[in-house]
Amino acid sequence: MAAQGRAPAPPAETRMSTTRRILVTSALPYANGPIHVGHLVEYVQTDIWARFQRMRGHECYYVCADDAHGTPIMLRAEQEGITPEELIERVGREHRADFADFRIGFDNYHTTHSPENRELATLIYERLKAGGHITTRVIRQAWDPEREIFLPDRYIRGECPRCGAPDQYGDACEACGATYTPEELRNPRSAISGAKPVERESLHYFFRLADFEPMLREWTRAGHLQPEVANKLDEWFAAGLKEWDISRDAPYFGFEIPNAPGKYFYVWMDAPVGYMASFKNLCARTGLDFDEWWGPDSETELYHFIGKDIIYFHALFWPAMLHGAGFRTPSAVWAHGFLTVDGQKMSKSRGTFIRARTYLDHLDPEWLRYYFAAKLGPGVEDIDLNLDDFVQRVNSDLVGKVVNIASRCAGFITKRFGGRLASALERPALHERFLAAGASIAEAYERREYARAVREIMALADEANRYIDERKPWFLAREAGREAEVQAVCTMGLDLFRILMGYLKPVLPRVAGDAEAFLRCPPLTWVNIGEPLLDHTVAPYRPLLTRVERKAVDAMLADARADLEREAAPPPAAAPGGEPLAPEITIEDFQKVDLRVARIVAAEAVEGADRLLRLTLDLGGPRRTVLAGIRQAYEPEALVGRLTVMVANLKPRKMRFGVSEGMVLAAGPGGRELWLIAPDEGAEPGMRVK
Ligand code: 2FM
Ligand code: ZN
Repeated sequence: MAAQGRAPAPPAETRMSTTRRILVTSALPYANGPIHVGHLVEYVQTDIWARFQRMRGHECYYVCADDAHGTPIMLRAEQEGITPEELIERVGREHRADFADFRIGFDNYHTTHSPENRELATLIYERLKAGGHITTRVIRQAWDPEREIFLPDRYIRGECPRCGAPDQYGDACEACGATYTPEELRNPRSAISGAKPVERESLHYFFRLADFEPMLREWTRAGHLQPEVANKLDEWFAAGLKEWDISRDAPYFGFEIPNAPGKYFYVWMDAPVGYMASFKNLCARTGLDFDEWWGPDSETELYHFIGKDIIYFHALFWPAMLHGAGFRTPSAVWAHGFLTVDGQKMSKSRGTFIRARTYLDHLDPEWLRYYFAAKLGPGVEDIDLNLDDFVQRVNSDLVGKVVNIASRCAGFITKRFGGRLASALERPALHERFLAAGASIAEAYERREYARAVREIMALADEANRYIDERKPWFLAREAGREAEVQAVCTMGLDLFRILMGYLKPVLPRVAGDAEAFLRCPPLTWVNIGEPLLDHTVAPYRPLLTRVERKAVDAMLADARADLEREAAPPPAAAPGGEPLAPEITIEDFQKVDLRVARIVAAEAVEGADRLLRLTLDLGGPRRTVLAGIRQAYEPEALVGRLTVMVANLKPRKMRFGVSEGMVLAAGPGGRELWLIAPDEGAEPGMRVK
């Protein structure tokens, strides 16, 4: 079998003349949880790359989708008392909003639970089957006899067979690090129902990955992967390519396998197909030709950005599936590392688990885009979001260096020259040097060496500031007869600023857009960046970016912690009795309510009010009159002499039928279905209920 796919792209400088046709993807986020800052590393990385390619004049599409299938999504929906379709619809909406606000510029954002994906996953499966690459075999698996579902390893909990730690997952112990099979766990329990799992047989469908070993060995060494990833694959080849179980039994949220009733495609089988499906959906909207991009002889480029945890799926299963089904293989798969926050793994318990939305509630998305860019390299190393460094870096680089150039020059141009720029550049050589630096910066973007791109751009920003420091327009402005020089220096400064903004535009699309509006220039691209604005009027300057304040970061962290506390509270739909829970209160809030045992000494209907009874309540001395909405549930006579519980410190309320001096406690939805709360015999009127 011959390897497919294209050789690695040639260096950036050589390809300005031809338009490349490029499709890029980021991994599809699961539709059962929010986007967090860890996810954003990848979307920001991909988005920068796609924006860069478009600025170079290439045809570049960026597609993604929600990964909507699988057991966790099915169970989550069940827990919330909604259908999986409702869950993925809601989460999908939240994901789109988060991405839009971080200015992740997808050309299409779809879902794997789509007709296109069903059609393509089925097609790929059928072609693999026709090629003899699918086999079936009966396997034994843990089964939850109560919930009647096969249990994935992570849904079995028990004691570690090595150290005895309780409540460990079915595959590994978090206490001692032992790995094992679920059968080895002591006292195993289903995490869904608590039942003891039993073993049960079932027929499963397998993809024969080893059929593709020669093709994969060649493909993985042909420049489609980062060197460290290719080395990792060697270990996997050495361990032997195992058959991949691509089926799951009902109940499962996914696509049923053709001619296999009750069997579904495993979520990881149709997830990467979601890349194709999202693109197909884009084709239907725009008239692009799907086969030109995915056919076996496609001349287009295809790049997948992924996290290092899902390399196996993307560098082995996925190219093999594509090849086996007669589609093109990826030009490259690029893995990145994980995000740590202040040097620690993002952790719910430490409160460093920061949702995209929580960030957005407090901080500017462009700050994070910049910070990630300043840290990202082409490899799989983890990157750290150090919050002090974040504040310092954004303030000193973006506000202190780049935006500062514009604010230093714009005022003079607006106030003294009506926004008019000079008719010539004062330092053409400096302009040329800034342009010449573009080749190396472009090469850095192309190779995903964003940290290098940012370093080189900031070195230019330093140079621009040095030029302004040296020419001191504020000084010239005070000297008679040097007006023209002021205009020339500020024109030059704004020219350098414009070039810098062009170079930063893939990273800072909002700031660059605002800068274009201020400069009144056409959208900046790598192609037009050399054209200075001369004899040209700019708009009044407004600050393009504000400083990050550490206290805003702290407020975000406090909110992140509050998010987690809310998450730990039971979901409202799971509330007993079907009524959603009221917002959480503290023990101090609760203690403000003075509940007392009371004896009903008189009860009568209230004339004109068909729901109310007037109760006279004895609190062991003092008496209260309470108007209670329990008339449909009780005959007044039946209540006389009974004990109940009342809120004794409720401020008297003037109602239409008189003043009510408290409330009695009753349970139930209302009408006839209301039951007064009564203490056991022995309680005395006036006793405090705690
Ligand atoms: O690991 C994950 O979050 C998966 N949802 C990624 C899927 S990527 C692609 F294969 F769909
Ligand atoms: Zn253990």
